[in-house]
Amino acid sequence: MKTLFIAGVSGSIGKQTLDVLNSQWFKENFRLIGGSVYSNWNDLENLIDTYHLQAVGIVDDLYDLPESYKECRIFKGLDAVENAIKYCEADISLIATSGFSGVKHTLSSIDVSDRICLANKESIVCGGNFVLNYAKKLGKIIIPIDSEHSAIFQLLLGEVTRPEKIILTASGGSVRDLPLEKLESVTPSVVLKHPVWEMGQRITVDSATMVNKGLEVFEAYYLFGIENIEVLINRDSHVHSIVQFCDGVFKMHFGIPNMKVPIAFSLSYPERRYDFNKPSLADMKIEFEKVDYNRYPSLKLAFDILGNPILQNAFNAADEVAVENFLRGEIKFTDIYEVIYKTVNEVEKMFSPSISLEFRSLDEIIKVDKHSRKVAKKVISEINKNNKMDQYK
Ligand SMILES: NC(=O)c1ccc[n+]([C@@H]2O[C@H](COP(=O)([O-])OP(=O)(O)OC[C@H]3O[C@@H](n4cnc5c(N)ncnc54)[C@H](OP(=O)(O)O)[C@@H]3O)[C@@H](O)[C@H]2O)c1
Repeated sequence: MKTLFIAGVSGSIGKQTLDVLNSQWFKENFRLIGGSVYSNWNDLENLIDTYHLQAVGIVDDLYDLPESYKECRIFKGLDAVENAIKYCEADISLIATSGFSGVKHTLSSIDVSDRICLANKESIVCGGNFVLNYAKKLGKIIIPIDSEHSAIFQLLLGEVTRPEKIILTASGGSVRDLPLEKLESVTPSVVLKHPVWEMGQRITVDSATMVNKGLEVFEAYYLFGIENIEVLINRDSHVHSIVQFCDGVFKMHFGIPNMKVPIAFSLSYPERRYDFNKPSLADMKIEFEKVDYNRYPSLKLAFDILGNPILQNAFNAADEVAVENFLRGEIKFTDIYEVIYKTVNEVEKMFSPSISLEFRSLDEIIKVDKHSRKVAKKVISEINKNNKMDQYK
C-alpha cells in the first residue's frame, strides 16, 4: 500500500483524484495521508474524518483552527502546504495546486516523495529546468497529469527513437466560434462555460485565450526536450496529443476526455489500472483545424518566448493577475493579452542582462514572479485609465 499526499485537494483535479481513489484497485493500493487547500477548511475536515489523515495544510489563517484535530496535525499560514508535505513524507505527492504557489509545493514534495504526480504546470513553466533538474538530482520521478503531457509520456514509453515533432491538441475553449469583434465584450460567465472540460476558473479562462496551450507548450519543451512543437485544434478533445517520427509516422493518443484517466495513470504507472468507458472508433470522427493566431495572440507570444524561463515566468504571472481582474469584471477579455504582452516586454528590458540564464534558485524564480506581478498591475491600471478616458470622449 502506497501513501499519498494531495496538494490542492479541494480543487477540480484534487476532487477527481479522490474519485479515482474510491475505485476498487486504487482503494486497495493507496492510502491518503495528507492534503492541502488555500482556504477550504470544510473539505479538509471531511477528509480528516474519512481518511484519518496525518497532516493537512491550510494557507489562509482566517479560521481559528487548533494545532491538531482528531490526531491530524494542522499546519497554517504561508508555509502550511510545504510543512504538511514534509511532515507526511508520503510515497507519492500529487500536486494539484493552481498557480505559481505550486512551484514551492512541487519542490517540497521532491524532497520527501519518490514519485511526484504533477498537475501544476506552473512548476515547470516558471522555473524552466530548475524543478526537473532538482528531481533528477534526488533521483525522483515526475509523472505529468496534464492530459496532453500524460499522452506524450505514454506515447514515448518503449520508444528508443526521439520524435521529431510534438503536436499538442487544443479544444479552442469556450468562445472559439464567437466572431472576433465580439471577443472584447464577452463576459466571465460565458468564458467559464468550457465546451468539453470541467476545470478550475483560471484554466477555463486560459483555455479560451489559449494561454493555457502556451503554458503547455513550455511544459512540453522542458519535459520532453523537443523544440519542434505544433498546436492543432481538435474540437472534441478526444485526441490528447500526437508525436511524429523521422519516417513521418504519427502516434496519437485517443480516448474519452476525462482527467481521471491521466490522474489514475500517474498513480498506477507503469501499469494501467483504471477501469473506464471504452469509446467505439466507428462512432468517432478525428478532425483537426489550424490555429488562427488573430483569435489566440497569446499562443503566438508563447512560441516567441519559448525556452526563455524568465519571460515564461513573466507570461504566467501577468496572466494570473489579468485573469483575476477579468473575473472581477475589471478588464475586458481581450485586455488579458495586452497585459501579458506589455508585462513580458517590460520584464525583458529589466532582466535582459541575464535573459538567457537558467534559474539557479527558487529565490530567483520568486523574484521574477513578484516583479512581473507588479508590472502587470501597473499595466492594468493604465488600461483602466485609458478605458475611463474613452468613456468621456
Ligand atoms: N482542472 C483540470 O482539468 C486541469 C487539467 C490539466 C492541468 N490542470 C492544472 O492543475 C492545477 C490545478 O487546477 P484546478 O483546475 O484543479 O484548480 P482549482 O480547481 O482552482 O483548484 C486549485 C486548488 O489549489 C488550492 N490553492 C489555490 N491557491 C493556493 C495557494 N496559493 N496555496 C495553496 N493552495 C492553493 C485550492 O484551494 P481552495 O479550494 O481552498 O481555494 C484548490 O484546492 C493547475 O496548475 C492547472 O493548470 C488542471
